[in-house]
Amino acid sequence: MFPRSDPMGHAREPPASLGCGNGSCRTRPVAAFPDRLSLHGQVALVTGAATGIGAGIAAALAEAGAAVGVNYRGSRAAAESMVARIGQAGGRALALQADVSKESEVLAMFDRLTQACGRLDILVANAGIQRDAAFTDMSVDQWDAVIASNLTGQFLCVREAVRRFVAQGPAPASRALGKVICVSSVHDIVPWAGRVNYAASKGGVAMLMRSVAQEVAPRRIRINAVSPGAIRTGINEAAWDSPEASRELLELIPYGRIGEVDDVARAALWLASDDSDYVTGATLYVDGGMTLYPAFADGG
Ligand code: BGC
Repeated sequence: MFPRSDPMGHAREPPASLGCGNGSCRTRPVAAFPDRLSLHGQVALVTGAATGIGAGIAAALAEAGAAVGVNYRGSRAAAESMVARIGQAGGRALALQADVSKESEVLAMFDRLTQACGRLDILVANAGIQRDAAFTDMSVDQWDAVIASNLTGQFLCVREAVRRFVAQGPAPASRALGKVICVSSVHDIVPWAGRVNYAASKGGVAMLMRSVAQEVAPRRIRINAVSPGAIRTGINEAAWDSPEASRELLELIPYGRIGEVDDVARAALWLASDDSDYVTGATLYVDGGMTLYPAFADGG
């Protein structure tokens, strides 16, 4: 007998029949589980959420019912317009200024969110930058800036989220005690000449995520990564904003299209939801096959 509700008491629809009687096997329609991706009653924080992938994830989590803290460092107007957009769509959001590489600012940001929304269920550690340079020309400032935002920033935010999950106790609307999604990159496994600082930071995020996952799984805290490939945002505009650039970029993408923010947002939403409740320490590549060594398609 299919249960009418899950362990959290959320109502469930019975599954559609999977009958193969007449030879045409039907797969179970996604709509048979309309409640599964719901984040109603949960509170999320998305760092670097004023623009790009972070903004897309914030919008998706809000659409699924979460109250969302929209973190930004300098882009106040963009963050406030994200908050307004979420509000107009019937969601709840709050703009939170903080530089994720500064411990005191991170702690103050978490305090402001939990004062306003009461708790924290989901962290999406997304804030990140690029400061590209040939290796022998790379300055310590370029190295430090990228490691500080992309790696130390994730360390500080993930540590604070885990502390809060443990301190606040059982989550009323989620199977896990808390969920973390680290936004990494295909460059956590694909080396990247001219961006050694960026690739090193993302490689660091991969092991940060997996080591924390091992440490906190017994507390029923899940942490996973989503690793985007080439997604059409401001960070890589030069790679897609002309026909020649797009043509070159597409040679690296077997699936034949440049990714959109929504591709990543949907993956992050799944990782934040109870649908991925048995998934922890995993990296989900959302890259149209960029990590499949496309140059080997015609031989090796
Ligand atoms: C980078 C983008 C790049 C993509 C694929 C991302 O992590 O931020 O600039 O286009 O990886 O190389």
